[in-house]
Amino acid sequence: MPERKMNPHDFIKLKRKGRRIAMVTAYEYFQARIADEAGIDGLLVGDSLGMVVLGFRSTHPVTLDMVVHHLKGVVNANPKSLIVADMPFLTYEVDKREAVRNAGELIRHGADAVKVEGGLEIIDKVEAMINAGIPVMGHVGLNPQRALLRGLRLRGRDEDEMKYIFESALELEKAGAFSIIVEFTYSDIARELARLLSIPVICIGSGPWCDGQILVFHDLVGLNPNPPPFAKRYLNLYQMVSDALRSYIDEIERGAFPSQDHFWSLDEEGIKTLRRIVNGLKRGGQ
Ligand code: KIV
Repeated sequence: MPERKMNPHDFIKLKRKGRRIAMVTAYEYFQARIADEAGIDGLLVGDSLGMVVLGFRSTHPVTLDMVVHHLKGVVNANPKSLIVADMPFLTYEVDKREAVRNAGELIRHGADAVKVEGGLEIIDKVEAMINAGIPVMGHVGLNPQRALLRGLRLRGRDEDEMKYIFESALELEKAGAFSIIVEFTYSDIARELARLLSIPVICIGSGPWCDGQILVFHDLVGLNPNPPPFAKRYLNLYQMVSDALRSYIDEIERGAFPSQDHFWSLDEEGIKTLRRIVNGLKRGGQ
């Protein structure tokens, strides 16, 4: 577990030391607490909340207010881990001023850094945010916010796609990003990126040769019955919660819950008072 609050520069120091970085998404208080106590380095309030918390089919309907709402729960856990908040679709692409203002809103609500999807086309916005004092994490490879154009498939299949990933990552580093997420690309590409960049390359679905890994909380603990193919499930929480709820319903039906441990009874004196009150009420009603 980190001994003090993590900052973006600590991520760079971890890369230099050769210590791999562990990140997970978090969207509420207890998720953040559990992950922080387990020793996670970074928590991402991802726009994946649209799918795994709100049940949307994509991240597109997610707004800045929704991210702020979930960020508050994470911040209230007071984690030592670095809190990165995702900038949702169209909160940073349009112009630099809007990007800075929206990123500032996330920082104002307690994020330590923000994350943006994309590469070459958003470099001026990334520079503007960093110039305003806001640490930025990049995100290349599969960008779910751009899935309407290119789908949700593996990235880096041809020369153009490979070049775009490398050029984007290098420009993001040059603009001042402190770290880059690489999603769903070939492991060889991610390995080269991790070698080329001096900032940490944090992978999801992009192989083991990275400076760190990130998974979506619900995929990791098995709360999402349809996780992406690259996610590892460490627990089948969906089944465990379902079994617990079935037991609860069954115990209510059988009268087994609540049992002695879960309710309180009056002592003799209390019973006498109760009878007096009830009898008084009965007489008053006659
Ligand atoms: O929103 C999210 O959860 C993400 C991760 C998949 C990296 O961006």
